[in-house]
Amino acid sequence: MIIFKTIKGINNFLDKYRKEEKIIGYVPTMGALHAGHVSLIENCKGNSDLTVCSIFVNPTQFNDQNDFDNYPQTIEKDIQLLYETGCDVLFLPSAAELYPANEILESYQLGFLETILEGKYRPGHFQGVCQVVNRLLKIVKPHRLFMGQKDYQQCMVISKLLELTNSTVHLIICPTVREESGLAKSSRNVRLSETDNSKATIIYQALLFAKDHISSIPILEIESKMKADLLRNGFDTIDYIAFCDAGSLTPITAYSSKDNVIVLIAATIKNVRLIDNLILN
Ligand code: PAJ
Repeated sequence: MIIFKTIKGINNFLDKYRKEEKIIGYVPTMGALHAGHVSLIENCKGNSDLTVCSIFVNPTQFNDQNDFDNYPQTIEKDIQLLYETGCDVLFLPSAAELYPANEILESYQLGFLETILEGKYRPGHFQGVCQVVNRLLKIVKPHRLFMGQKDYQQCMVISKLLELTNSTVHLIICPTVREESGLAKSSRNVRLSETDNSKATIIYQALLFAKDHISSIPILEIESKMKADLLRNGFDTIDYIAFCDAGSLTPITAYSSKDNVIVLIAATIKNVRLIDNLILN
């Protein structure tokens, strides 16, 4: 695996592959890598000639300075894991090069997508995600981009970004990797105590409850049972439990078998905010 820290360095290297018309696959990350990230690298390896990963903790997507300051950084371990997974190229850009001083940040017309769910609870977050991903895409110029369903709304935002920028990059959404308990792997899980980690598995159980009962119980009833279960199991706040159309993320209040429904949850346990989702049919 070759590591590049400058735009010029990675560009010179990738140019050779572009000229040979090799398929470049790309996995952007913020590090603190776990099995979820590894699955993206593996998917990328299986579907590209060259696998590029980047690690950059992007300041513009954090609406909470405390969350940014406490974001786990495990770079030595990450490099080892990427090397063992067979990643070809690791890009570690500096904030100074990615965000040159005095440059005005772009703003994207994300519409409805930005005002709901994560967009509502994390103002500015998706603008930041688009700013960094667009910059990274302009540098790496991949053919294929691999992202996780775990961040479902983020996938939809990036799909919108690709549309807004007339990009030909093909977005491939990979399934959520879970711990044996069902808890979705997340870089933030390391902030959970052992007890809270085990309590947090109620999120997946609640998602499964929704999947099992979507066609037999009214959505409002399912939602209040899920809420009660989360609160009873130690969650302090629930930002949302939302039943939406999986294609548009518009809310669904009554189920019909024609609908493609996704349920999404964001909830906080001991100051650790977790998100997860499940497609129900
Ligand atoms: P990060 O949280 O590091 O996630 C990087 C990628 O890993 C994202 O596509 C995310 O959806 C995926 N991922 C995380 N947990 C996963 C899991 N349990 N199973 C499968 N995939 C999982 O998402 C970001 O970074 C940033 O917003 C980024 C896109 C890099 C822009 O800064």
